[in-house]
This record gives sequence, C-alpha cells and structure tokens, in this order.
Amino acid sequence: MTEVLAVMSLAEETVAAAMARVLPPELSERDPLVRPSEHADFQSNVALSLAKQAGRPPRELARALHAELADGAVSATLSGPGFLNLRVSDAQLWTQVGARLADHRLGVGEPLSGTRTVVDYSAPGIAKELHVGHLRSTVIGDALVRVLGFLGTEVVRQNHLGDWGTQFGMLIQYLEEHPEAGWQQGGPGERVSALDGLYRAARQKFDADPEFVERARLRVVALQAGDEATLAVWRELVAVSTHAFQQVYDRLGVLLTPEDVVGESAFNPFLDEVVAELVEAGVAVESDGALCVFFEDVTGPDGAPVPLIVRKKDGGYGYPATDLAALRYRLQKLRVDRILYVVDARQSLHFQMVFATARRAGWLTDPVEVVHVPFGMVMGPGGTPFKTRSGTTVRLADLLDAAVEGARRAVADKPHELGGEALETVIRAAGIGAVKYADLSSSRAKNYVFDIEQMVSLQGNTGVYLQYAHARVRRILDKAPAQASASPLDPTAPLHPAERALILLLDGFDAVLREVAAELEPHRLCGYLFSLAKALTDFYGACPVLKAETAGLRTNRLALCRLTAQTLAKGLDLLGLQSPERM
Ligand code: ARG
Repeated sequence: MTEVLAVMSLAEETVAAAMARVLPPELSERDPLVRPSEHADFQSNVALSLAKQAGRPPRELARALHAELADGAVSATLSGPGFLNLRVSDAQLWTQVGARLADHRLGVGEPLSGTRTVVDYSAPGIAKELHVGHLRSTVIGDALVRVLGFLGTEVVRQNHLGDWGTQFGMLIQYLEEHPEAGWQQGGPGERVSALDGLYRAARQKFDADPEFVERARLRVVALQAGDEATLAVWRELVAVSTHAFQQVYDRLGVLLTPEDVVGESAFNPFLDEVVAELVEAGVAVESDGALCVFFEDVTGPDGAPVPLIVRKKDGGYGYPATDLAALRYRLQKLRVDRILYVVDARQSLHFQMVFATARRAGWLTDPVEVVHVPFGMVMGPGGTPFKTRSGTTVRLADLLDAAVEGARRAVADKPHELGGEALETVIRAAGIGAVKYADLSSSRAKNYVFDIEQMVSLQGNTGVYLQYAHARVRRILDKAPAQASASPLDPTAPLHPAERALILLLDGFDAVLREVAAELEPHRLCGYLFSLAKALTDFYGACPVLKAETAGLRTNRLALCRLTAQTLAKGLDLLGLQSPERM
C-alpha cells in the first residue's frame, strides 16, 4: 500500500511546482515554507523569504508564483506583502478521508524503518517497592517505545534494574542475622514490601553498629567473589522483585516484560576490561587512588574539576562504570542507531560525563545518537515533595488504587448503561489512563503536581475526556444503518467549515508523531488528541450525522466519524491508554 500523502504535502508540492517554473534553478528547490494558517488552510511565505536572493520585490514574486498555481486540488490567493494563502478543495478533502480510512496505518508513514533504537527506562532498584519516583520514567519510556516503534524503528527495551552494589551485601547480611523477619511470606508484592522495611532496618543498623558494617563488608566481598550461598539469596531477591515489578507494569499496561530486564549485574563481568580499555586509551587517569575521567567543561561550585569515578579508591566499581559498560555493549553488540535514557533530570551530569567518556574512548561515533531524556518530578499538593501523611514515599500501587477510586467517582457521576465487570473494566481503564495521561500531557522537563480530582475530570485535557470523546463517536457509528457506512464517499458533497477543520487536523497525525519522535515529547501527541476531540465536538454542534440532510452527506460524515474514532484510539494506544468502546 502506498503512503497516503498528507494534504499539507500536496500543498507543498503545488507551490514547489510553481517555484520550479518561476525561480532560477539554485532557488527553485528550496523549501516552499508551507505552514498551517489561521487565514486559510495553509500559508506559504516563500516569496518573502526568497525575494532578495531572486532580486525581485516580494509581492511581485508572489504574484508570479500565484500566476503559475492552476486552480486544482489546491488553490491560492495573494495576501499582505507577499503571502500565498492556500486552500484545499472540498473534493480533495473528502477524498483524503476515504484514503486514510482505507489505510490501516491511518496515513502514518514509517520514516524510521531500518533503524534500531534502545530505550532504557523504568529501572527501579531491587528489594524496594516501586514508588511515585518510578512513574515518569516508566510511563514516558513506554509512550516513546510505542510511538517510535509505530514509526518503524526496531525498539530494544532495556530495564536497567539496580540489582548490584554494596547495599545488597548489607541487606543479605541483615536477612541472615534475622531469620525471624519472615519476608518470604505472601505474594511478590507483600514480600518486596517486607524487604523494603528490612532494607531500612539494615541501613539503620549499618549506620549505628561498626561491627555490623564489617560483617556487611565481608558479605559484599562474598557476593562479588561469587559465594554460592550469598548468590542464592541475591538471586531470590532479584526474582521476587522482578515478579513484583511485573505485577505493577501489567497493571499500568506498559510493554515491559521480564525479558527486558538487563540489570546492572549483567555488566559486572565486563567492568575490568572496560576500565582497562579506558586506562589504555588515556581517557581514565589515576587521581587520589581512584581512576577518574576529567572534563574541561565540568567543574563544581568551587571551580575544581568534577570527575567521573570509574573505579573507587577501594577498587570497587560503581554506577558510572556499569553505565559505561552498558553503553559500550549497546553500541558494539546491539549495533543501534539511537539510544534513549529516560531518566530523572537530576542525573543529567552523570549522563553528560558517561556519553563524553564513550566518545573519547572511540565507542560512540557519529551518526549514532545517544540522548538523555530528562524529566521533572511529581509533586504533592501545593507543589511540595510528594509524601504520604506520615512522611514516607508514596507507593506506586497505592497511587494507582487512589486514581481508580477517583475514576469510579467521576464515571459514576455520569449516566451510563454499564454494570458489573464491564463497568469495573472501564473504571480501571479510566483511572490508570488518568494517571498516565496526566504525566504524559505535562511538559516533560517540568515538575507537575499530582492531583487526582483534576486528572479524572471529564473536562479539559485529561485522559478521561479523550476516552469519553472516543466512546461517544463509537456510539454514533454503532447506531448508523449498515448500508450508510458501507457506501463510498461522495466527493461532490459540500464541506462545512467544522468538517474542514476536523479533516485538516486528522491530516496532521503523521506530522505530530514525527515531532514526538524527534523531540521525544509525548505531550505533543496529547495536545494533538485534545484538539482533535474539541474539533469533533464543534463538528457535532454544526453537522448532524445520523440526521444529515442527504444520504450522501450522512455517508461522508460517518466516514469522518470513523476516521476520527480510529485516530483517537490509535493516538491513545500510542500513549499507552485504553479506549473502551462504551463508557
Ligand atoms: N536505577 C537507577 C536509579 O534508580 C536508574 C537507572 C537508569 N538507567 C541507567 N542506565 N543509568 O537512579
């Protein structure tokens, strides 16, 4: 199936054809500068931009271009000092609706096909519960995985679990000394919850008891030396944590699976060789007994250089060494075109140093792109750090429970004919979707306030609002007589301005997905879907569908409804939200 050309591309081609006839060869291939416009469907200011180089007054050049624009699918008028206002014909727009509907990709191309992308996201630490701090990486990473994958790249998901380090020696030692702690009871969620508490207890003992510190240290040595009994406990910690994380991932409806787990421990065998390579290349140097990489542009508040410590004074490796090994593995073994690290903005400096080190070592070369995709924090009411009433971090599972209860109140407020399990399913989809959408729709780099009442609101830019918009249009489609939906579109039917606005928006689906992929900003897709839902409401207000004036118009409007429903559902799916048929 050939790609459906967006009408914007058609407008570009039309102007480009006129440019070829009017401008000298060195200017005729330039971008025709066609953009959506308030005054017409599109506007081109190419005459203004090229006038000087063409040696002609802008308005005169615009007039010459205009004279070459035959009135076809796209017609033009002159305006202002040299703008070309472009209008797409009614017939072309109806034809466009038919073409997009016939395309299972809804007119979206596959510009990334033939490439491979690693997305590193979620990455919680084992033996701890998922908390609010893990929400953003998991949800943003999932949306990027979906959008990029839809645009054709082969996505390799990597869940870089924090499953290695001296803290596990401490925890294992504590568990060994407290067999009565009984963390092995209950399901994975309860067991990890118990471990989370024991971890804190272990930390307290560690801070208070020097003898325990020494026993914990020996345990770390045992773990790193591969002592079988110690490893067995460690493996159990990993297994139960992975299982508990997966339960939350499934509930959230993200694509992560246990197969995507490539934790820090997976890179342990390569640390010696990675660091040796850095030393050999002169990238890492000894400083104060540690091995460090220094950077010209990275200094602390006192102006002294801040190094990336690849091997500590005591000979141990930390987070930086693991990330270097992981990056080298991804570049050399996975042979990727692009690597995204969806991690909290507070780790920016860490990634800046890791990427620069990889570049100096010669592992990272153009045109491979390695990007830290930072995000702001989730805040509590009033913009304070998000804590429970007793001051502890909020568990992700509790947060989801609360959102589902919020959705229950919001959905129950509205008249609906659902009941029983069907209603429960919709409430879950609305509640979980509300949390994800609130996160995705706020600008990625900023902090946002977690506010359940606002996120389950049926008004405004919320997931629930979009899910309702989708269910409402589905209802209309279900009521339509079968033959009205099956007939071909009538391109000679008149087109209402509200229909025009909706069709032009639908036409921009491909462009907004490309923007999300380029800027790595899912909120652009949220904004787009919100505009689409509003344009749909305007369309209902102006154009009766089932009671349209003629049978031909009814067929066209039903097709427009169907294309909008499918675009909304696909857009929500790419954000990781469900779109129930009924609400
Ligand atoms: N486990 C880390 C943390 O909780 C996040 C890991 C992110 N990924 C990475 N390759 N460093 O801070």
